[in-house]
Amino acid sequence: MSPRPAKKRTVARQDLGNRIAHWLIALSTFALIFSGFGQMPMYARYGVTDLPGMAWSGDFGITLIVHYAASIGLITGIAFHIVYALRLRRFDILPRRGDVKESVQIIGAMLGRGEEPPSHKYLAEQRLAYAFIGANLLLVTATGVVKVVKNLPGVLLPGPVLFWTTMLHNVAAMLLVLGVLAHLAAFLVKANRPLLPAMFTGRVREEYARKRHPLWFDAEDGPRLELLPQPTERRRRPRPDGTQRKTAG
Ligand code: HEM
Repeated sequence: MSPRPAKKRTVARQDLGNRIAHWLIALSTFALIFSGFGQMPMYARYGVTDLPGMAWSGDFGITLIVHYAASIGLITGIAFHIVYALRLRRFDILPRRGDVKESVQIIGAMLGRGEEPPSHKYLAEQRLAYAFIGANLLLVTATGVVKVVKNLPGVLLPGPVLFWTTMLHNVAAMLLVLGVLAHLAAFLVKANRPLLPAMFTGRVREEYARKRHPLWFDAEDGPRLELLPQPTERRRRPRPDGTQRKTAG
C-alpha cells in the first residue's frame, strides 16, 4: 500500500477525554443559555413559542427543569475536565505571560501585518479564550449553586447575598454568551478552520500542525512521533532444535 500524500496525513490532537469534556460543557452551556433566557418570560413575546415543537419554551416550570438538568451536565463536565487535566498533568491550555501581546501579533498577521509567531499546542488567543470562558463558567456555576440553595424550602438568605448572587449570575451569563459567540466566530476565519476536525474526529492535518503549531508538533512528546517509522520487533529465528531463545526481563 502506498503511503498517504503528506497533504492528506493527519495527526492526533484531541483525545476522547478532551472531546467528551468539551461537548458535555458546550451542549450544557447551550441548554443553560436557552433555558436561562426562558426564565425571563420572553419566548412568548418574541414568538418562539409559536415555532413548531417549541410551545414548552414559554412554560417557566419546564425551562427551570431544563436549566437544572443542564447545570448537572455542566458541573459534571467541569469536574471531569479538571480531574482529567490534573491526572494527565496537561496544562498546555493555561494562559502564559505575553499571551495578550502574542494574540495581537496573531490577529495582525491574519490581517496581513507581519508574521504569525510559532505556536505551542494552543494559540495564545485560545489560551486567553479558555481562561475567559472558564472563569465565567465557574462564576455562573458558583452563583447558580447559591440560587438553588435559595430555592430550597425553609431557606432564607440575606437580601444583599441574593442581590449580589443574582447580579453576578446574570453578568457572568452575559459574558459567557459573548465568549461563546466570539469562540464560534473564530472559526469563520479561514486560518482557524483546520482546527475544527480536532473536536470531532480528534485529528488535524499534519501540514497545518507542522506550520502553525511547530512548538507542539516538534516537541519531544508531540504528534510528529506517530509519523516516524515505529521500531519493529526483531524477528527471532527459532533455534535449529525448535526451542525459543530466552529474552532478558
Ligand atoms: C458548535 C459549537 C462548538 C464548536 C464547533 C466548537 C469547536 C471547538 C474547537 C474546534 C476547538 C479547538 C480545538 C483545538 O484547538 O484543538 C474548541 C476549543 C474550545 N472550546 Fe469549543 N466549540 C463549540 C462550542 C463551545 C462552547 C459552547 C464552549 C463553552 C461553553 C466552548 C469552549 C471551548 C474552549 C474553552 C476551548 C479551548 C480554547 C479555544 O480554542 O478557544 N466551545 N472548540
